[in-house]
Amino acid sequence: MKTKNVLIGLTGGIAAYKTCYLIRYFRKAGHNVKVVITKNGLEFITETTLRTLSGEQVYSDTFSGINEWSTEHISITDWADLFIVAPATANIIGKMANGIADNALSTALLAYNKTLIICPAMNDKMYFNTAVQRNIETLKGQGVIFFEPESGDLACGYKAKGRMAEPEDIYNEGLYYLNSTNSLAGKRILVSAGRTTELLDPVRYISNFSSGKTGFRIAEEASYRGAGTVLVTGTTDQVCNSHIRRIDTVSADDMYKAVIKEFKKADCVIMSAAVADYAPEKSDLKIKKSGDSFDLKLKKTKDILRELGKIKKKGQILVGFALETDNGHKNALKKMKEKNLDMIILNETSSDNPAFGSDFNKITIITSDKKEQLPAMDKKDIAGYILDRVEGLFKHQSK
Ligand SMILES: Cc1cc2nc3c(=O)[nH]c(=O)nc-3n(C[C@H](O)[C@H](O)[C@H](O)COP(=O)(O)O)c2cc1C
Repeated sequence: MKTKNVLIGLTGGIAAYKTCYLIRYFRKAGHNVKVVITKNGLEFITETTLRTLSGEQVYSDTFSGINEWSTEHISITDWADLFIVAPATANIIGKMANGIADNALSTALLAYNKTLIICPAMNDKMYFNTAVQRNIETLKGQGVIFFEPESGDLACGYKAKGRMAEPEDIYNEGLYYLNSTNSLAGKRILVSAGRTTELLDPVRYISNFSSGKTGFRIAEEASYRGAGTVLVTGTTDQVCNSHIRRIDTVSADDMYKAVIKEFKKADCVIMSAAVADYAPEKSDLKIKKSGDSFDLKLKKTKDILRELGKIKKKGQILVGFALETDNGHKNALKKMKEKNLDMIILNETSSDNPAFGSDFNKITIITSDKKEQLPAMDKKDIAGYILDRVEGLFKHQSK
């Protein structure tokens, strides 16, 4: 992953504290962050906090002697690959829409001509005020991206639309624009992720340890590459960018129905979800404790990959995952053949490669003519490798 430069602007809203997390997410992912803040923004958060989190001098005064260059409002915007204003007050939105440059942030905004994401945060009456909405529409018309506020508890005591979007969601949106290419434009990719949850009774379930990280990273990478991306997910705490159509499911049966419905429209399906092989018959009432032992009867679930392999049409690419603790290569090859897959990702879980839950994994990519064992790497990079191979399969088909 290439290191990018992210400029974050803050204004005078209570949500400024949430922006600390946004800075941390970008820094943790290895990107450079610089901060530009209004004088009123500094009423809500200190320069020390922002300097420490970004690891850079904070830019807050157009005429301050601390500036590296005499025209920092220009150099800082030349430096940035992406500019995010979070939180954005009604005031800064108004200034932007009218070309006003009266402080460090508004001046930098006027000098910036690349991808700009504005995250408004304010009381709902302010947000829906005709002037504010008119300013937002004007800026949208100029290509500015607005990441809408959410509904919920506002600092002023109201429960309404106006809360700044969650930092993790803003971060994911930022990553989308930072990484955008079009190598899969026009393709439709369906990804499954997460774990299925099989209810035993209203309060108990059977599941597994899959976190959903691999599938989410694959769906994100597909969206960055311009593919129309659908993500059918089981239980997970992962979040994804707004360019992915996310379908939430619970049981193996729910996931089967959702995947089959979406399959016809897909050019490529990547099934990374950890689906239960067997499921109990759910009791409507809580199962009572009785006796010293308890026999649980399980019924085989539908094998989603096998079904897809049967109905796969010419030109559709089907990718499966094999999680193995022993005889990995042999089992993966068998699964690939039996289920009519074009590619299988072998995941050999062991004490030194836990796979589940970790941000890293060690995989082997197997196609009909090639076997590639990759070193341990971040799941984001794994997603990149897998989609590079998928692109290779698409190219091979079109020959
Ligand atoms: C406690 C407090 C919270 C505020 N929260 C917001 C807010 O969330 N959104 C907003 O647009 N204005 C908010 N304001 C008003 C702005 O701070 C005010 O309009 C200010 O002029 C904005 O300056 P700036 O855009 O230069 O930072 C708040 C004011 C106070 C005192």
